[in-house]
Amino acid sequence: MQQHSYLNLQGTDAVSVQLDGVHYARETVQVFRGLDLHVDQRRVGIIGRNGSGKSQLARLIAGLAEADAGQVRVDGVDVAKDRKAAIQTVGILFQNPDHQIIFPTVGEELTFGLTAAGQSKDQAQRRAQEMLARFGRAEWYERSVHGLSGGQRHLVCLMAVLVMAPKVIVLDEPFAGLDMATTLRLGHYLHNLGQSLIHISHDLPSLAHYDRVLWLERGAVHMDGAPGQVLPEYERQMREWGGSDDLADL
Ligand SMILES: Nc1ncnc2c1ncn2[C@@H]1O[C@H](COP(=O)(O)OP(=O)(O)OP(=O)(O)O)[C@@H](O)[C@H]1O
Ligand SMILES: [Mg+2]
Repeated sequence: MQQHSYLNLQGTDAVSVQLDGVHYARETVQVFRGLDLHVDQRRVGIIGRNGSGKSQLARLIAGLAEADAGQVRVDGVDVAKDRKAAIQTVGILFQNPDHQIIFPTVGEELTFGLTAAGQSKDQAQRRAQEMLARFGRAEWYERSVHGLSGGQRHLVCLMAVLVMAPKVIVLDEPFAGLDMATTLRLGHYLHNLGQSLIHISHDLPSLAHYDRVLWLERGAVHMDGAPGQVLPEYERQMREWGGSDDLADL
């Protein structure tokens, strides 16, 4: 497959993501109470039960939310305050594509960030078309986003993140709703990306070859280590909890 250097080979050094003493509440829910986290591996998986704080952590790392106290820095950038630098530094794929999509057509969705970052319309269009072609969706450029299925919209959001080639990419369940062939192609593509990835997933095998896995539990890091240590322990615990008949305990 042809390599596009701007897509794949940027920043092959891991980029540091640092959270210090982060407190963060949403409405009445205190999501984080003094979370400290320092990540400088290229492939980091995040696992944890529903509501454990994975998506909120992703939003903080991307600078879409600001900590009530404490600091979040990605590659030294204060991502919540310096939005211009943040956009070049970190990209996020939302768990729900409908929270991410802004424009009526796929082409506009994919070119917007590039033109905002200073590229010409022609240049942006070319890159967007290359990205679509890479996923075998060249004919989507003119299509209306609303005419796409849920999984297809998810893929559009992902391509919109990848086309920007930020130094760190945060993926909140990138495979959710994608068919098997698309999942495999995407997995292969992510594997070959030069950028740092922070990948939230309930699909444990997809994290098996990562450098590090963090297990979040009620807004705190419950376990942190190599996938070979963390994933089996997580699975064992989930089976134990899942074996209980008490739905109230969920
Ligand atoms: N908009 C919101 N308003 C109030 N509370 C919220 C909001 N979004 C998230 N929360 C709360 O923050 C906590 C963490 O939620 P988060 O979405 O980060 O969980 P998650 O680990 O991503 O779960 P899932 O696996 O279901 O995606 C939960 O207790 C949730 O109820
Ligand atoms: Mg989530």
